[in-house]
Amino acid sequence: MHNLTINAERLWRELMETAAIGATPKGGICRLTLTDLDRQARDWFKQRVETLGCDVTVDDMGAMFARRPGLRVDVPPILVGSHLDTQPTGGKFDGVLGVLAAVEALRTLVEAGYETYAPIEVVNWTNEEGSRFAPALIASGVFAGVFDPEWARAQKDRTGITFGEALEAIGYRGPERCGAHPLSAFFELHIEQGPLLETEGKEIGIVTDVQGVRWFEVAIKGREAHTGATPMNLRKDALLGAARLIDRVEAIARSHAPLAVGTVGMVEVFPNSRNVVPGGVLFSVDLRHPESVVLDAMEQSLGQALRDICEPLGLEATLNKIWDNPPVHFDAGCIAAVRRAASASGFSTRDMVSGAAHDAAYIARIAPTAMIFVPCRDGISHNEAEFTSQEQCAAGAQVLLQAVLDYDRTLAEAAGHHRA
Ligand code: HGY
Ligand code: MN
Ligand code: MN
Repeated sequence: MHNLTINAERLWRELMETAAIGATPKGGICRLTLTDLDRQARDWFKQRVETLGCDVTVDDMGAMFARRPGLRVDVPPILVGSHLDTQPTGGKFDGVLGVLAAVEALRTLVEAGYETYAPIEVVNWTNEEGSRFAPALIASGVFAGVFDPEWARAQKDRTGITFGEALEAIGYRGPERCGAHPLSAFFELHIEQGPLLETEGKEIGIVTDVQGVRWFEVAIKGREAHTGATPMNLRKDALLGAARLIDRVEAIARSHAPLAVGTVGMVEVFPNSRNVVPGGVLFSVDLRHPESVVLDAMEQSLGQALRDICEPLGLEATLNKIWDNPPVHFDAGCIAAVRRAASASGFSTRDMVSGAAHDAAYIARIAPTAMIFVPCRDGISHNEAEFTSQEQCAAGAQVLLQAVLDYDRTLAEAAGHHRA
């Protein structure tokens, strides 16, 4: 291992500096993808990496790649990074830690004058969160060949603005075709967003897999009516049907305990007026599990619940699957590099499956990939109270740097090039 060490204070300073872009009164960040705040964060990132001498490429999904050349310009880069967009009640660390830790690792190499064998690139993926534009992981999904780029750019937010329009509006539609960018490997550092590392007192999560996720939109059609003059037995109350279904989503997840999770996070009621029996409801369903066969069973139960609940209430219901991201196993060679890096740095570790989806889940389809987790306080994320300490952030960044150097040496040795 190299005795290169990242600068913990500098990393923390930059985390707090970028947290000001979209800062919320409760200490979080609201920086939705492709908004002007996202543009400001992108501009900040671009300026930072350009001062390190990087060339920045932007592709036609807005993904940004900051490149530091290596000894071999013909070898595809080792990619590191994550995302700068946040949830509406996002925290200071989700995604942004992965990008800024990657910048700090690169800066440590620059300051040491250390030349890697392969080029190193830092990436900022567009629309990882899937909050403004569904589904999540849109840019990395196009990059991996999962989503068609025109379909992706046509995705609309709740006001009817398309991804493509928003990308043009902030000036970040780049010239490179998304995906025309060969990689040697991808390493993503991220906060765990769950309670395991903190509960077990472990410093680093060695992520071996990402669980599967399926998103649905349920549309229920009833009939608007007067809340005072309409007898209960003559109603077609769409919100009553939705309420019973929401309860059933929770029961479906619990019936596949302990690993299944099921959530309804977004509900829109029409006409949403106090004295009108709701005639229409649209709501989201988020189902997750490490095994596809269980996700199949959960999806089947959801479809059955729609029929069981809505027909007796005289409601029409449609179930539309808008995202299906199967479970992912990461690359053994990359996992081994992370494991050696954590061990050499003296951190306690635990292997784990990621509960959250990440861009790495799609990039794993086209390049050797692995992830590194650090704990978050009380396991809380997607919440303005999200917190990971300076020491924990630094530990993650240090393991990221060492894993990249380890993998770089592996690439060099495989090509018969021995490095000190
Ligand atoms: O949905 C997810 O798991 C991620 O936070 N986008
Ligand atoms: Mn994230
Ligand atoms: Mn997130």
